[in-house]
Amino acid sequence: NTLSIAIIGAGLAGISAARHLSEAGHQVQLFDKSRGSGGRLSSKRTEFGDLDIGAQYFTAREPGFRRELKRWLEAGWVADWEPQLYLYEKGQLRPSEDDQQRFIGMPRMTGLSRQLLEGLSLTSSCRIQRLRRDEPHWWLEDDQGSEHGPFDRVVVAAPAPQAAALLEPAVQLAQAAARINMLPCWAVALVFEQPLDTPVQACFVRDGALDWISRNSSKAGRKGPDSWVIHASTDWSAAHVDDSPLQVIAAVQQALAQILGCDLPEPVFSHAHRWLYARPAEDCQWGALAAPELGLYACGDWCLGGRVENAWLSGRQVARALMGAG
Ligand code: FAD
Ligand code: NAI
Repeated sequence: NTLSIAIIGAGLAGISAARHLSEAGHQVQLFDKSRGSGGRLSSKRTEFGDLDIGAQYFTAREPGFRRELKRWLEAGWVADWEPQLYLYEKGQLRPSEDDQQRFIGMPRMTGLSRQLLEGLSLTSSCRIQRLRRDEPHWWLEDDQGSEHGPFDRVVVAAPAPQAAALLEPAVQLAQAAARINMLPCWAVALVFEQPLDTPVQACFVRDGALDWISRNSSKAGRKGPDSWVIHASTDWSAAHVDDSPLQVIAAVQQALAQILGCDLPEPVFSHAHRWLYARPAEDCQWGALAAPELGLYACGDWCLGGRVENAWLSGRQVARALMGAG
């Protein structure tokens, strides 16, 4: 029979759960606190083009996800990305090509989440604060005091710390989510009028303040001048979590110039975004969490490990658990 299901969080895990459940005939309603959707698939729209400031690309290893990816590629929702790949380690910058296939949303990372949401119902700018059980139903209370419902089942697809608060009615689930530590990441986007004098299009960084450098404008579909997205390392981000965006931009620019070994002109655009819950500290193998007796479930990358593919797999897993529970 058809169930009415609320999903809190319209990142890739929530969207994957929503698609699997609605394809099986259930009535699904997504909620997200943001104005948009996609969660950590995140693209900042600027007059210099769209800049991917969250997930940079994704890889695909699990067979079911690879089959799904093939459909996305055929539909043009994602494309290959084969950057000139480098590694910066022990003060040395060197090419580091490999055979790994990497994929990007088109024409921006959130292009993928946008397409996957087609036909699904999303209430955006709605932060759910509390779940209330009124046997046999669930009601969702938002931070404006409005209630949404009734629902037969609820799936919490928010990052672990936010999920833990919502999962309170199922103590074991709340405790499990509360055990997951999520680590911060400062992301900086820079746009230069003239292309920087370097062949680097992507770079893994092993020491110092940074973790990752990418030339956003080397990705297919991205329009505009030479744009870069740089992620600070977890340790640096944690140590500078309360710095101002301007301080962070200055420090990241300096580190970037040192790694690329070229002069950086004044950028025509700069932006810093602080991700407080960028990635789970460790990978675990839960897949998803379930309290079938209550009809309460949880999914997200933190149930498998901080990658786009894992978010999608966790959403599929929660849908299977929910439907298996009848
Ligand atoms: P999210 O995308 O975080 O979605 C959760 C959603 O829940 C959000 O939209 C949020 O607004 C919403 N929400 C939270 N609380 C509430 C509430 N109370 N009420 C309503 N809505 C709520 N992965 C890769 O594979 N490759 C990469 O290159 C990569 N780079 C990354 C770089 C950065 C800087 C970051 C931050 C992440 C990166 N990742 C990368 C990880 C990847 O982005 C995540 O694993 C994946 O997007 C997580 O999806 P999710 O659906 O589990 O969570
Ligand atoms: P992947 O297979 O491209 O990379 C995994 C890791 O392997 C890289 O982080 C890097 O350390 C290493 N690596 C891969 N190819 C390399 C090469 N050619 N040279 C040197 N090192 C190489 O992608 P996968 O497994 O899908 O991982 C997702 C990526 O998302 C990771 O890079 C991870 O760090 C990043 N991520 C970043 C977050 C953040 O907060 N900045 C959060 C979550 C994920």
